Amino acid sequence: MSWGPGPTIGPETRVLALTGAGVSAESGVPTFRGAGGLWRTHRAMDLATPEAFERDPALVWAFYAERRVRAAACAPNPGHLALARLEERLGDRFLLATQNVDGLHRAAGSRRLVELHGQLFSTRCSSCDRPPFEDRSAPAAPPRCDRCGGLLRPHIVWFGEQLDPDHLARVEAFLKSGGSQLVFLAAGTSGAVYPAAGLVSVARRAGAQTWLVNAEPADNTHLFEHFVEGPSGEVLPALFAQALS
Ligand code: OAD
Repeated sequence: MSWGPGPTIGPETRVLALTGAGVSAESGVPTFRGAGGLWRTHRAMDLATPEAFERDPALVWAFYAERRVRAAACAPNPGHLALARLEERLGDRFLLATQNVDGLHRAAGSRRLVELHGQLFSTRCSSCDRPPFEDRSAPAAPPRCDRCGGLLRPHIVWFGEQLDPDHLARVEAFLKSGGSQLVFLAAGTSGAVYPAAGLVSVARRAGAQTWLVNAEPADNTHLFEHFVEGPSGEVLPALFAQALS
């Protein structure tokens, strides 16, 4: 299948990519809202809020432990790799903001990366200010902090929690830092969760050309100039084939 030409990547082009769960779907990581999505069979409010963790930390911890086990068995797909190669090409003219917590962009080689919703393989204390630390373990019950005895939790931004303001500031600064050839490309995201879903509007105000790559129309498709409907593992390498050749 041919997906047509993607954005033109010239010597001045700057690209902000925003990814969501769909980009990892072809790696075997379940999405949230599409067919087979986690929020189709699990109640987000019982598993992904600070109140849920307070009420039943064992249930919440077990949910994320299972996701750790599943994600640890997954590898980056050609969509992740295309974005990592685009970064190699563009250097500081590229930034990747992801809503994914699975670590697959990093595994693919992306370094200019803002993980807006946290990291599945990091743990932090729910009580003290101990910094988050890398943790690939998946015990069935929530462990205790060895500094304060509080309950440990995954380093994930839950519903009702704020994104790290430095993360959002970095993304917005990239969008606003000038250049007439700005491209905003969202991939594999349903456009349902803010503030990520609102970045397309920020990008448009900054004069960006806007592209959406998704397996089906997203909630905010109408805000994009270009919509390429298809699996990101096939579409992203094809859209950037010329720039990466
Ligand atoms: P969603 O599950 O809401 O949306 C994934 C989108 O990807 C859907 O529109 C699918 O149609 C599309 N999709 C599925 N497979 C695809 C493929 N192979 N190629 C391209 N598109 C594909 O995931 P997000 O938009 O990332 O937050 O969800 C946003 C946030 O809501 C998540 O980060 C998560 C969730 O609650 C937290 O856990 C904090």
